[in-house]
Amino acid sequence: MSHATTAAAPAANSMSFERWLASRGQRTEQALERVLPAAATHPARLHEAMRYAVLGGGKRVRPLLVHAAGEAGGAPAAALDCAACAVELVHAYSLVHDDLPCMDDDVLRRGRPTVHVRYGEALAMLVGDALQALAFEVLAAAAAHGAAAAATTAMVVELAHAAGSIGMAGGQAIDLASVGAALGREALEDMHRRKTGALLRASVRMGALCAPDAGAAAEAPARRMQALDHYAEAVGLAFQVIDDILDVEGDAATLGKTAGKDARHNKPTYVSALGLDGARRLAGQLREQAHAAIAPLGEAAHSLACLADLIVARKS
Ligand code: IPE
Ligand code: IPE
Ligand code: MG
Ligand code: MG
Ligand code: MG
Repeated sequence: MSHATTAAAPAANSMSFERWLASRGQRTEQALERVLPAAATHPARLHEAMRYAVLGGGKRVRPLLVHAAGEAGGAPAAALDCAACAVELVHAYSLVHDDLPCMDDDVLRRGRPTVHVRYGEALAMLVGDALQALAFEVLAAAAAHGAAAAATTAMVVELAHAAGSIGMAGGQAIDLASVGAALGREALEDMHRRKTGALLRASVRMGALCAPDAGAAAEAPARRMQALDHYAEAVGLAFQVIDDILDVEGDAATLGKTAGKDARHNKPTYVSALGLDGARRLAGQLREQAHAAIAPLGEAAHSLACLADLIVARKS
C-alpha cells in the first residue's frame, strides 16, 4: 500500500480526545480510500460494491482501537494504518455477510441499503470474499511501513485467528445455531466474545504489536500487552452488550440499521438474558474493568480510556 504521509501523527497526549478522534478518524478514511481499488478497476461492479461496503459510514471503532493501543507503545503511524485498514476491511466483510438473507436478512446498514439489496446476493458474497483477502494483503504491507517482520507475521496470525472459526466466523455460526434458544450466561458470553469481541481484541493487540519494543524479551512490553489484553477483553464484550441494548432502545434513523430485529428473529442477547437494566449494569461493570486494566499505563492510555467510555455511552 502507498502512503501519502508516513510521518508520525501528533502524540495523543498533546490533544483533546475529540481532536484525537477526528484526526485518527480522518487518517483511517484516507487510508481505506487508498487501499481499495478504484471503482473503475476491472471488474468494475465488484470494486464499486467493495467501496460501497467500506466507505461512507461506520464508526471506525476498530481502527481507533488500533491507533490508541499502538500509540500507547510509540508505534509508527504508517504501520498502524495498515493494521487499522486490515481489521476494518474484515469487519466490513463480516457486516456484508451478516446482512445477507441467509443470515440476518437486513436491508439497512450505515443508513443505506445493504450491499446485497443494492448489488445482489452473489456479488455481496464476493465483496466479502474480496475484502477479506484485501485485508491480509494490506496487513502484510505493515512490514514495509515500520512494523518489525516478526510483528507483522504475528499480526497476520492474530487477525486470521480473530476472523476465523475460533473467532468471528465461529461466533456467527453459534449465533445462527442459537435462534430460539435460551442460552445460559456462559454460552451467551462465549458467543459474544467470538462474534464481536475477537476482532475488537485483535485491533488492540495488533496496535500493541506495532510498537518498536513489542518483540523484546523485556518486562515493560510484556506488562503492556497483558494490560491491553485485559482491557480488550472487557471492551470487546461491552461492545456487543451495547449493540444488543441499542437493538431494543434505538431507532433506525439513529442506528443506521434496522432496530428491534434481535427479538423479531428470536436471537438470544444480553437483553433477553438480563433485561435492559441488567445489560446496562453489565456494560458499566465492563467499562470499569477496562479502565482498571489500563490504569498502570497512565497517560499513554488516555485515548483507550476515552474509547471505552465512548463504546459504552454510544447511541449508534
Ligand atoms: C456492528 O458493528 C456489528 C457488531 C459487530 C456488533 P459496528 O457498530 O462497529 O458497526 P459500524 O462499523 O459502526 O457500522
Ligand atoms: C454482528 O452482530 C456481528 C458480526 C457482523 C460479526 P449483529 O448481527 O448483532 O450486528 P448488527 O446488529 O446486524 O450490526
Ligand atoms: Mg448477526
Ligand atoms: Mg445483524
Ligand atoms: Mg446487533
